[in-house]
Amino acid sequence: MAEQHKVLVLNGPNLNMLGVREPEIYGRATLADIEAGCQKRAAALGLSVEFRQSNNEGELVTWIQQARQSADGIVINAGAFTHTSVALLDALSLFEKPIIELHLSNIYAREEFRHRSYISPAASGIICGFGASGYELALDAIKRLLAGD
Ligand code: DQA
Repeated sequence: MAEQHKVLVLNGPNLNMLGVREPEIYGRATLADIEAGCQKRAAALGLSVEFRQSNNEGELVTWIQQARQSADGIVINAGAFTHTSVALLDALSLFEKPIIELHLSNIYAREEFRHRSYISPAASGIICGFGASGYELALDAIKRLLAGD
């Protein structure tokens, strides 16, 4: 059997607070609920998922660097670092496989400072505004990109 492709799903600052954090914007699912949904969807797609969260920009950079050796794709919800982080852009630019930028909310329908993403230039594609189900859509997208669709 061919080896399963491995996807690193990264979550940035404050996403550990999902469930209690502005539920009218981000929904009621906790990050643990979202991880469970990802694991289920990944199993159906024949992918393996490693799911992580950090409030620390440097830790996210280190994980992205390490993924060059250990992952076939990255899904990243960089939270507020989306709108500030050249360091995350630089790390993602070194990753030569599919990257999906993800946001629960539609960042383009919100405050103007959220309209600018520093990391989009490194992304294969962007999914935003679909709430927690966006994570499963992102895994579908990675699967298709890895299959060359
Ligand atoms: C977010 C959108 C960001 O603007 C915000 O800072 C977040 C979450 C989202 O998933 O909608 O932390 O990335």
